[in-house]
Amino acid sequence: MATYFITGGLGFIGFHLTERLLNQGEKVIIYDAQKHYVPLDRSNWTYYLDYRIQKLRGRDVEIVRGDCTDAGWLKESLEKYKPDVIVHLAALPIAGISNDYPAEARGNIFDSTVTLLDTLKNVKFSFDRVLYTSSSMVYGEFLRDDNQNIIAASEDQVCNPIDIYGAMKLSGEYMVKAYNYRFGIPYVIIRPSAVYGHTDCNMRVTEMFLLNAIRKMPLLVENKGMHQVDFTFIDDLIDGYILCAKENNALGQTFNLTHGQGRTIGELADILMQLVPGATIEMSDVMPYRPNRGTLNIAKATRLLGYQPKVSLEEGMKRYYEQIIKDNIWRND
Ligand SMILES: NC(=O)c1ccc[n+]([C@@H]2O[C@H](COP(=O)([O-])OP(=O)(O)OC[C@H]3O[C@@H](n4cnc5c(N)ncnc54)[C@H](O)[C@@H]3O)[C@@H](O)[C@H]2O)c1
Repeated sequence: MATYFITGGLGFIGFHLTERLLNQGEKVIIYDAQKHYVPLDRSNWTYYLDYRIQKLRGRDVEIVRGDCTDAGWLKESLEKYKPDVIVHLAALPIAGISNDYPAEARGNIFDSTVTLLDTLKNVKFSFDRVLYTSSSMVYGEFLRDDNQNIIAASEDQVCNPIDIYGAMKLSGEYMVKAYNYRFGIPYVIIRPSAVYGHTDCNMRVTEMFLLNAIRKMPLLVENKGMHQVDFTFIDDLIDGYILCAKENNALGQTFNLTHGQGRTIGELADILMQLVPGATIEMSDVMPYRPNRGTLNIAKATRLLGYQPKVSLEEGMKRYYEQIIKDNIWRND
């Protein structure tokens, strides 16, 4: 049995990772400041935070309330539990809000990462590795070939983020590598993209479309639905995290962990139209301030780790829909 210390472990990805690790007989320490980002009158954050805590009650998990920028409390917590693996998920996870509030983004994305690394440099126990959660936003605008087709982004291509969130995440990657070169901290860097599934409550497009469809409100499709995203079902991402935590081949590497296929927002809307009775679409000419993205190449994760995402967008949204319906909190009344 290994001990995992998960910063941001009460969040969407952290909760699913915790559940999987507990099911595998591991011990988990969650270190989380319990922050929310979308105003509470527009989000189900309170419901899902409570849901996650209730689900974890009575299991082999400790929940520590703490901020990653609080070096003293972070060190005390790490020294107390002496984890084998540290998974760093804590961050301001939304690009739009990071652009609007750069100081908050710096604190929760960059400072939290550096504080964690600097604390780990000084702890009195040895540990196996740190998993740093980066993002597909580090790539910026995806490259195109001569025919204007989007080229799948590979880990070894030059990163060129065009927004605060992507730049902060990439800065964090550099710090992870610098602390490895200077102080030998063992690491794995993970670049997820558009993760979706049950308990997400940050109003990403998958949740927003699903809730709108159920509430009989139109799905607002910007940019004629042309924008491409590599949507990734939460269970597939968690498979990847487990491999990154356990496989020796992962050490010192950077991995795209996504479904490995760019799909347009228009396709997502069509899936919802098939899935939810009475769903409607409203087209909008608004061009969102986001880099044009597409497929992330996952060949490296497949080759080195055996990573094999299994859940298509059609199947993942069906599962997500069925789970959200059971929650019974989506009604308009
Ligand atoms: N969900 C996605 O599509 C996606 C894609 C790429 C990368 N990521 C990254 O994955 C990570 C987790 O994202 P998520 O979707 O689970 O978001 P989330 O908002 O559900 O979870 C983030 C958690 O981190 C905690 N947190 C934030 N700042 C903290 C701090 N300073 N100290 C301690 N805890 C703090 C929050 O309280 C929250 O519980 C983030 O780093 C995010 O940037 C997410």
